[in-house]
Amino acid sequence: MSRLDPPRVSRRSLLSLASMGSFFAAMGAAIAGILRLPNPAVLPGPARRFKLGSPDEFSVGSETVFAEQSLVLFRENEGFYAVSAICTHLGCTVTRSKDGFACPCHGSKFDNAGKVVAGPAPRPLPWLELARGADGQLIVNADNEVPEGTRYRV
Ligand code: FES
Repeated sequence: MSRLDPPRVSRRSLLSLASMGSFFAAMGAAIAGILRLPNPAVLPGPARRFKLGSPDEFSVGSETVFAEQSLVLFRENEGFYAVSAICTHLGCTVTRSKDGFACPCHGSKFDNAGKVVAGPAPRPLPWLELARGADGQLIVNADNEVPEGTRYRV
């Protein structure tokens, strides 16, 4: 054996090194997991409150699609209501059809009130909370649902 030959490592010391390496890798992963615990895995998104405009802008009997906000605002004699245009199946944006809403992704159909007419959507389209801001404009809070049939009177 010359001085240039690498030192021989016995099987025992190789297994010992491998087990020590595995132990420290597992401890490192466990410590990293423990340190992450105080941080929430899901962060709340931004509030989804949108100004829709002055109530006078919407005539009785009108329906207005707010594509960017994924909702449809209706005005009837009894008041306003807003229906979410996000399908309750997997979240595609529904479109208006002649007798309600239709989802282009998997074919769910909803009536004008958002009730499921054909699946696979498991729930009706949510009705969203309406209010008026200090400036008098209609505001929808897309994070809050209201019972179907709830009208907002101005
Ligand atoms: Fe609408 Fe599947 S996402 S039916």
